Amino acid sequence: MAKEKTLEDLFHDTLKDIYYAERKILKALPKMARGAQSPDLKAAFEKHKSETEVQVERLQQVFELIGKRAQGKTCPAIDGIIEEGEEILEEYKGTAALDAGLLASAQAVEHYEITRYGTLKRWAENLGMNDAIKLLDATLQEESKTDEDLTVLADAAVNSKAMKSKAA
Ligand SMILES: [Fe+2]
Ligand SMILES: [Fe+2]
Repeated sequence: MAKEKTLEDLFHDTLKDIYYAERKILKALPKMARGAQSPDLKAAFEKHKSETEVQVERLQQVFELIGKRAQGKTCPAIDGIIEEGEEILEEYKGTAALDAGLLASAQAVEHYEITRYGTLKRWAENLGMNDAIKLLDATLQEESKTDEDLTVLADAAVNSKAMKSKAA
């Protein structure tokens, strides 16, 4: 019979998943910032890179709280989302739709993070891990704010620019 797995095991595995994802995102954000045409979008990616550095540290603190070594576990979901972003960078290079595409890719990343942190925070609540709840919630709020800021940017400039050049 398979060894009994607990919510603690799930929590630990999911922590490794998002730790892998955050470090992957940390490498992708500078490429996206370099690729973005709009100065506002560039700035948004750079700002989120700094936030992501702190998010990685928060995860290391959560590993410490559960007495485990900070360690990632390959996450095919984030690999796929980032790969699609790289495709946009290549295939839309030099076009008016590039920023809209990059923005959409970035939002897919944020939504993946939001689902992971939402789950981890809920499990931390179930497990009565008060310090972990605070750390996970701080990052969850940042990811949600980033997603909202990207929506504002999309509405304000990026999408209308993509449409305008089609009409021209
Ligand atoms: Fe993040
Ligand atoms: Fe994020």
